[in-house]
Amino acid sequence: MRFAGKVVIVTGGASGIGAAIAGRFAQEGARLVIAGLHADAAEAAAAALPGAGAIGVGCDVGDEVQVEACVAATIRAFGRLDVIVNNAGLMTFKTLAEWTGEDWLQVLRVDLLGAAFFTKQAFLHMGEGGGAIVNIASVHAIATSANAAPYAAAKAGLLSLTRTTSIEGRDRKIRANAVLPGAIDTPMLWDNPNVKSGAETVDRRDVGTPAQIASAVAFLASEDAGFITGTTLAVDGGRLAKL
Ligand SMILES: NC(=O)c1ccc[n+]([C@@H]2O[C@H](COP(=O)([O-])OP(=O)(O)OC[C@H]3O[C@@H](n4cnc5c(N)ncnc54)[C@H](O)[C@@H]3O)[C@@H](O)[C@H]2O)c1
Repeated sequence: MRFAGKVVIVTGGASGIGAAIAGRFAQEGARLVIAGLHADAAEAAAAALPGAGAIGVGCDVGDEVQVEACVAATIRAFGRLDVIVNNAGLMTFKTLAEWTGEDWLQVLRVDLLGAAFFTKQAFLHMGEGGGAIVNIASVHAIATSANAAPYAAAKAGLLSLTRTTSIEGRDRKIRANAVLPGAIDTPMLWDNPNVKSGAETVDRRDVGTPAQIASAVAFLASEDAGFITGTTLAVDGGRLAKL
């Protein structure tokens, strides 16, 4: 019960990796806020969680006003904020010649600014005991494929945000770390046009589960990782390690 008495926000927590992360924190005693794009799905996911209590909040993470409202709802419901997992993400596919400015902003808003908005709220609302932020990046932050430039750039930016957060968080006892999932068995992987076309090859032996990401996230958010901040942990079955 590493998170008994703690309050955790998981963005994009109604599906895929986010749902597994929320489930893991609930099993370990946390009270949860599922921040999802669609309020009904977030509420249904929260209602299905075991444990100490959970609410679902409709929140477009790319809209700073909605992020502020989500954190206000968290404090109203549970009176504190200890952990934020910036998991909400979006991946779109075009060539460099095709991307428009609006296409770029659509991805950057969700995958990078969403985490920045929640990080600001962490600094405003986490208590004297501090807290932890875990940013879900991707192996695409380090190595990528064609047709995914905004996603790869946003995830690389998320690693930089993680470093800045660790520096500015030091005196506030706020730790920040990033997880780099490899290929994880969710619809986001199998719907990926690059994977479908073979432009990005995925060896079946290199496919992990949402639960495997959740256990790394829970470790980084816990006191077991009390001296770990500003770093990135690849959870990819070794995919990044080989040529
Ligand atoms: N599945 C993989 O292989 C893989 C690999 C590397 C990284 N990731 C990352 O893991 C995270 C979760 O992905 P997943 O595989 O579970 O896919 P998913 O599509 O199930 O999860 C993404 C979640 O983000 C939510 N979301 C999208 N836009 C949002 C917005 N504007 N506001 C709030 N929520 C929004 C979606 O509703 C969804 O719940 C993402 O950040 C993704 O980039 C996934």
